[in-house]
Amino acid sequence: MWLKKSSQRIDSLGVGLKSATVLGVVPGERLVSSRAKKVTTHVLQEMKRTGEKIAMLTAYDYSLARLVDAAGVDVILVGDSASNVMAGNDTTVPITLDHMIYHAQCVVNAVDRALVVVDMPFGSYQGDSKLALKSAIRIMKESGGHAVKIEGGNEIVDSIKRILTAGIPVMGHLGLTPQSIYKFGTYSVRAKEEEEAEKLMEDAMALQDAGCFSIVFEKIPADLAKRVSQSLDIPTIGIGAGADCDGQVLVLHDMLGITKDFSPRFLRRYADVGGAVDGAVRGYIEDVRNGDFPSEEESY
Ligand code: KIV
Repeated sequence: MWLKKSSQRIDSLGVGLKSATVLGVVPGERLVSSRAKKVTTHVLQEMKRTGEKIAMLTAYDYSLARLVDAAGVDVILVGDSASNVMAGNDTTVPITLDHMIYHAQCVVNAVDRALVVVDMPFGSYQGDSKLALKSAIRIMKESGGHAVKIEGGNEIVDSIKRILTAGIPVMGHLGLTPQSIYKFGTYSVRAKEEEEAEKLMEDAMALQDAGCFSIVFEKIPADLAKRVSQSLDIPTIGIGAGADCDGQVLVLHDMLGITKDFSPRFLRRYADVGGAVDGAVRGYIEDVRNGDFPSEEESY
């Protein structure tokens, strides 16, 4: 990492750095984030400024959120992908505000350091900024989450502005927006054509101007994500949007290899937890059936 003489103090973020303006970082070096006792939206902003990549993962329950937080992830998203991976639905459309609040409470109970962002589910904000504010307040008050995420561009700016009036930080979500699956009909890459790319750029600016602290880009061409990320002041988080976003997000159950039937090109599997569970359960069944479990030592 190379530092130049100081003009700005960033120790107000609780990152303990004094008087240094960071001009560039060695990939993987985590100066701001590793010193942040708690990740806030300001820490993320500072990470963008210093070029530190933001690591975000989903979680929906206490036990896994505890492991994910302890491992040092910066942001935990209580995604409405819970509809798919926790409830087994085909889409994110059926999950309710009550369900999201329940999952978010479980995650918040586990987390010491990460910023917890909670998805606003389908039907909790569309077309009605007062409803959006009411839903966001319920999420914050009942779950203890730290911010909300909301899908859409220019058409939801009124809702974003109204939510922000209550002091609730908002993350945007552009590109593939799964709540609109029935409008688009497919989960294919978005904004490949110039017109749609232009619209995405305008939407991203509109979300930034409205006051979003960050935007997720899902399944868009890498060069478009790079251009928009460079032109925005707020951090962008990519999923299937190439390496030049300011951070990356994956669905935890996908990257752990718990879900097996979902293999998009952008997904890297870091473990075979599905295989480990299968092996453990088969071993247990065998031991019970042949009387090997419990042993004398495991008995009272
Ligand atoms: O719900 C979710 O998990 C998401 C991520 C894919 C960004 O929105």
